[in-house]
Order: sequence, then structure tokens, then C-alpha cells
Amino acid sequence: MPEAAQYILSLDQGTTSSRAIVFGRDGRPVSSGQQEFPQIYPTPGHVEHDPEAIWSSQLATARRALENGKLSARQIVALGITNQRETTILWDKKTGTPVANAIVWQSRITAPVCERLKKEALEETIRQKTGLVLDAYFSATKIAHLLDSITGLRARAERGEILFGTVDAFLMWRLSGGNLHVTDVSNASRTLLFNIHTLDWDDELLRIFNVPRAMLPEVKSCSEIYGHTTKDLLGESIPIAGCAGDQQAATFGQGCFGPGEAKNTYGTGCFMLLNTGSTPAVSKHGLLTTIGWKIGDTTTYCLEGAVFIAGAAVQWLRDGLGLIAKSPEVEQLAASVKSNDGVYFVPAFVGLGAPYWDPNARGAIVGLTRGSTKAHFARAALEAMAYQTRDVLDAMQADAGVALSSLRVDGGATANNLMMQFQSDLLDVRVLRPVVQETTALGAAYLAGLAVDYWTDFRDLTRNWVLDREFAPQMSIAERDDLYSGWKKAVKCAQHWVD
Ligand code: G3P
Repeated sequence: MPEAAQYILSLDQGTTSSRAIVFGRDGRPVSSGQQEFPQIYPTPGHVEHDPEAIWSSQLATARRALENGKLSARQIVALGITNQRETTILWDKKTGTPVANAIVWQSRITAPVCERLKKEALEETIRQKTGLVLDAYFSATKIAHLLDSITGLRARAERGEILFGTVDAFLMWRLSGGNLHVTDVSNASRTLLFNIHTLDWDDELLRIFNVPRAMLPEVKSCSEIYGHTTKDLLGESIPIAGCAGDQQAATFGQGCFGPGEAKNTYGTGCFMLLNTGSTPAVSKHGLLTTIGWKIGDTTTYCLEGAVFIAGAAVQWLRDGLGLIAKSPEVEQLAASVKSNDGVYFVPAFVGLGAPYWDPNARGAIVGLTRGSTKAHFARAALEAMAYQTRDVLDAMQADAGVALSSLRVDGGATANNLMMQFQSDLLDVRVLRPVVQETTALGAAYLAGLAVDYWTDFRDLTRNWVLDREFAPQMSIAERDDLYSGWKKAVKCAQHWVD
């Protein structure tokens, strides 16, 4: 009998849905499963997830991916994990039960704590050690918030009874039946507690944020066998061999292995990462310095522009306003008007990320006239992704001191040709869309596959990147400048809205 084909299973735990994709050696998806799970908004600007919903949806999609491909777990040689970053989960070490809902990366609940720390002039030290700005986006203040708002929790955490993890660590704990309390450098670099130069949790940062070291996971590289799944979950014990935060994984999946290569992912938010090689580059224009990945002893750093709301604005048109029944309908609706007719939508629902870093900004729709229709709302929501990407690209080019000639793109919205053409026009850069747009899951699969010699080296992976379509700029300079200056005015309206 011929030997059954072998594959890598990738778990992609995102902000709005859990996905599992099985990949073959050519980097093409073989089968998949996907499930949305509930978003919880307890107060304006605060966002939570139920960790049990994260776990059950993720496990269900892994099982579904195997079923859909008629695959046995025996054919899976390794499993990779990628995840929404910064989202903070605390659980009981003995029972594995979460002590509260996860505080999601988008949540602004700890913005006042960040304001206080800024007044104590700690921002520069934090920035220098972590590469991050002092913002409620990251995990540290979320951990402290949970420790201080649940009676007795801090004392229990100090005694080592309570564990912290970003979603990757929580999933690895559950997948391994409580054997693993580990994370990887890319996820650790998003906590505000990790020193990106020493590659270790930093005592001074732990003191500043008041987080006990006993609750932190062990930090590993992105590509190694961390442990195994318990047999009962998928039918076989599978090596867990790759892990990276979703944006770093997407950068890897896009094959941006060399300095100067960049990608932009259009998901719930929009995240542009530029590979800067083995030394961390410091941003002077509102970008983050972050760890891309660590393989063996080699650490790769990136500059990142993090935009909080992109596809989530389309979700809001669907769920908040009821303008569309399903997200893909936005494309047709937006295309029914020839231009934005002066309507701009700044989706600053949870403040603004890069390059503005304004936690007090809130959403704004400006330029409305009596002739404005829901089509203008749809168009403005799509265009907002492109404008926010331009904000970030300008910052990146200023930091890097060179102009980017092309940008690799992935994520849901890249299927939209109208949007991609507009993006290229607005950036004045060639936009390259690969055949496989599931680059986040692919990146985690690559990291796992490299650890078990399923793929040998980067050359194997580079061969797998195939262009689907290139969008070249066509817009006149005058039109581009005119549209973008309208956006800049709109952003001003949204900024500093909350006192
Ligand atoms: O930093 C947040 C980011 O990791 C979320 O990504 O794909 O869930 O929007 P996504």
C-alpha cells in the first residue's frame, strides 16, 4: 500500500474567528475549518472574549479541517499555532479554568493606567526595552487590571497558582493537557514585559507594571518541538512545533525573509510589518519595534504599523448598522458609487493606533451631504483601510529612509480588486497579491514544518510564493494628494474626542 501523504496542521486563532488549515508541501491549503465566536463589549471601548469559546471553537475547527480533508491525525506531522496577539488570559494552574474573560487587544480599559505611567516619565525606558509604545493595546496593564480587580487573585498569582498567557500559551496549555506553559518570542514581545534585546522577561518592567514573574510562561523560539497534543483531542498525539503571533506569522508566510521586505494584512485590524534583519530598528514616526521570529539562535526584528480597525468596520456596517446582511456585500455596495464624494469614515472605535497612538480618538464619519447614501458609508469603510495603510507606509518609509517599491498583501479584504487598485493608487506602490492568501496560517505551518524537517530551508518556502495579481498605480498625483488630504482632515475630527 502507498504511504499516506503527510501534512502540517495550522491553528489560526484570530480576533473574530478560529480557523484551522491543513497545508501540503507546496504551501497550498488542503482543507480547512472556520468558526466565528462571540465578541463581548461590557462597556464602551472595552472588549472581552470567553476563553472557553476560544478553545472550543479552535478545537472544533481543527477537527473539522481533518474531517473535511478526510485525513487521519496520523498524517499530520506537526502542528503550528498563530494567534491574535496581546489578548490576555489568566487561568488557575491546578484546574486549568480561566479566572475571568480574556481582555482583548482592542480593549481600552487600561488607558488611564497608561496615562498615569506616562506622567511618571516611564515611557522612554519602556520603549527602549520593549520597542513598544506605552498603550493599553499591550498585555501588561491588562494582566495587572485582572490581578487588581478580582479579590485575592494577586496573592494567588504571587504564590504561582495563577498563570498568564497570550492566546498561544493558553492553547498550548490546553492542547498539551496542562503540560506546557510556554510562549514564543514574537508573542512575548507584545506584552510590554519582555526585553527584546536580552530576549527575557525584564525585572524592571515587571516592577513597573506590577506583574509577578511566577505567572509568566517560559519563552521559546518560534520553530521547535515544544511538546505534544494529548491523544484524546485529535485522535493522535501530534508534535506542537511552531508558534508566532499572527502578524509575524503572516510576514513569514509571505516569504518576507530578508531585510527590506514588507507585507500588509487586512484582517480585523490592519498590520504592516517590515523585516529589518537581525538588529532592532528604532522608529521615530510612531511605529513599533517587534520581534518577527527566532529560529535556532537567529532573531529577526520587524518594524510594525498596527491599525486597530480595518475589516471590523465592515463588520460594524453589518452588525451595528444593519446596512448589509453579509460582509462580502460591502464590495458591490461600495462599487455602486464612483467615488467617496467627499465622505470619509475614520473607524477609531477603540482609539487610533499607529502612527497616531491616540487612545482618546473615537469613530467619525465626515463630509456627509444630503446626497450621501449607504453606498458612501460602504465605500468610505473600505477606503479607510487604504488610507490607514498609507499613514503607516509613510511612517515606515520615513523610518527606513527608503521608498518601498512593492508591498505584499493578504487577508480577507485583498480579494476585493477595487480596494486593491485603490490601495496601489493611494500608496503609489505596486501591490502584490499571492495565490495563497492564508499567509498567517501558512506562516505558522512553515515554522512547525521547519522544526520537523518537513521543509528543509527558506528556499523551499520561497518557491511556494506565487503571484496571483499585481496592482500598479494609475492615479494622478493631484488626485492622490487631494484624496489623502481629505483623510488627514477627517482624522483630525476623530482625534482627542474623549476627555
Ligand atoms: O495585534 C492584534 C492582532 O494580532 C490581531 O490580528 O488578525 O485577529 O485582526 P487579527
